[in-house]
Amino acid sequence: MLLPGLWVLASFRAALTLFLVLSLSIFCNSHDTGSFKTFPINKRTSLTRRDGVFDVAKALRSVATTKTKHRQNLINFQRNKDAGTLLISLEIVPASLTSNTIGSESLMDVAQDLQWVGNITIGTPPKRFVIDFDTGSSDLWIPSTDCPTSYCQAKNKYNPSASTTSHRYPGTFRILYADNSTVEGNNYTDTVSVAGVKVDNQYLAGATNITLADTSSPMDGILGLAWPELSALKQNPFFFSAISQGAVAEPVFAFFLTNTSASELHLGGVNHTLFIPPIEAHPLSADAKGFWKISNGIVELDGKKVLSGIETIIDSGTTLMYGPPEAVRTVFAQVPGAKPFASLPGAYQFPCNPPPKLSFGWGGKQWEIAEWNFNLGQTEPGSTDCVGSLLAQDLGLGANSWLLGDSFMKNVYNVFDVGSKSVGFAQLSGQQA
Ligand SMILES: *[C@@H]1O[C@H](CO)[C@@H](O)[C@H](O)[C@H]1NC(C)=O
Ligand SMILES: *[C@@H]1O[C@H](CO)[C@@H](O)[C@H](O)[C@H]1NC(C)=O
Ligand SMILES: *[C@@H]1O[C@H](CO)[C@@H](O)[C@H](O)[C@H]1NC(C)=O
Ligand SMILES: *[C@@H]1O[C@H](CO)[C@@H](O)[C@H](O)[C@H]1NC(C)=O
Ligand SMILES: *[C@@H]1O[C@H](CO)[C@@H](O)[C@H](O)[C@H]1NC(C)=O
Ligand SMILES: *[C@@H]1O[C@H](CO)[C@@H](O)[C@H](O)[C@H]1NC(C)=O
Repeated sequence: MLLPGLWVLASFRAALTLFLVLSLSIFCNSHDTGSFKTFPINKRTSLTRRDGVFDVAKALRSVATTKTKHRQNLINFQRNKDAGTLLISLEIVPASLTSNTIGSESLMDVAQDLQWVGNITIGTPPKRFVIDFDTGSSDLWIPSTDCPTSYCQAKNKYNPSASTTSHRYPGTFRILYADNSTVEGNNYTDTVSVAGVKVDNQYLAGATNITLADTSSPMDGILGLAWPELSALKQNPFFFSAISQGAVAEPVFAFFLTNTSASELHLGGVNHTLFIPPIEAHPLSADAKGFWKISNGIVELDGKKVLSGIETIIDSGTTLMYGPPEAVRTVFAQVPGAKPFASLPGAYQFPCNPPPKLSFGWGGKQWEIAEWNFNLGQTEPGSTDCVGSLLAQDLGLGANSWLLGDSFMKNVYNVFDVGSKSVGFAQLSGQQA
């Protein structure tokens, strides 16, 4: 997620999900219609500098962000479990009984592949916000007009009193960042629209005090697309509300992420233009804990099986790929000349040529990570060694759990199916606009 200067925002995005302390309330049903939207986006590169060298500072920030976010996810999950509050039952309204929509939201790759943002509207009349869509968290968060801090000055802000559909609930929430900066605010419900998919009475957090320094990213907030178990608001996330309100044709959304043209979040189905059937679907793990997590993963290197039986979380809000330290060591042990990269704990370097061919599979096709997604650039100018996008990190997600972010998702069409509780992958068609 990042252009020069925008990288600080990487920590913001994940931090948005931090330390929200909120509780429950009422949930209402209704339905609505909408229309398609697509927008062109810009081409960006990744954590690689213009001169082809790996950007260590940027990567350090990205790793920290990922760790912080998932730490908070675990806190949310435990809190929800202990409270016994969840889960609001997911009532899937048959499409034939409702007016519904398939919406397509273009995502702008704002920060050199480190953050995918698109427009949503909140309130009546609708106000536009720039949002990071995150399959690794479950809350919607935006700054509010009651926020006087410099961070908020530069942002699109939520004005509850200017929205006839806004409802304020008593109490405050607080987000505490790893560096002790905070976000504080209130809980609301309001109408939220994403790519023509309109949801009434969606729970969201409006921040009144943000003490973050960076104001350079276009991102105002986050919209979480993971399961209710991870919600700090203890409410259905946007897409789950859309399903129960009959606002989407199918309980499915799909991501197409690319560096060269329109990245796209498709709500309520899949965009058949963008992939070649079949979609290879895999059921969520028994212990998915609110994540988009699938089991029985297989890791291959240069066509040879290195590991099997791994658990994998598919996370659009994470830039790179992470595995348990011992497992990642085993993978790089298969790469001649590979060794730990001293400047970034958990990263490995290896001879740039020939590029190692890493793939992940779940019993069907092995989905290969293209070189441009695996090679993050040279270790230093003139070096013949490069840095890989697979990092060793214990994220506390489980001894056998891997986190596959954009470095993986950019290689496939990614289908998230709430109805069948599965994640599916299909081969990209290369037909994007
Ligand atoms: C709003 O958040 C506060 C603080 O957690 C909580 O006490 C209150 O019950 C919440 N209100 C609703 C309606 O969820
Ligand atoms: C962008 O993606 C294409 C494949 O779609 C790849 O060939 C190219 O190297 C990538 N460019 C960068 C800068 O990553
Ligand atoms: C979001 O809306 C603004 C203003 O209409 C527009 O300039 C921008 O291109 C949109 N972004 C995306 C990713 O669609
Ligand atoms: C944050 O605050 C706590 C308690 O005041 C303190 O122990 C900790 O060192 C602080 N962390 C940072 C990064 O300043
Ligand atoms: C905003 O948060 C900071 C950090 O927690 C705190 O010091 C400050 O008093 C808060 N400001 C307001 C107006 O609540
Ligand atoms: C599907 O993808 C194509 C190619 O990028 C795009 O032109 C089209 O608008 C998308 N379909 C929808 C419904 O958004």
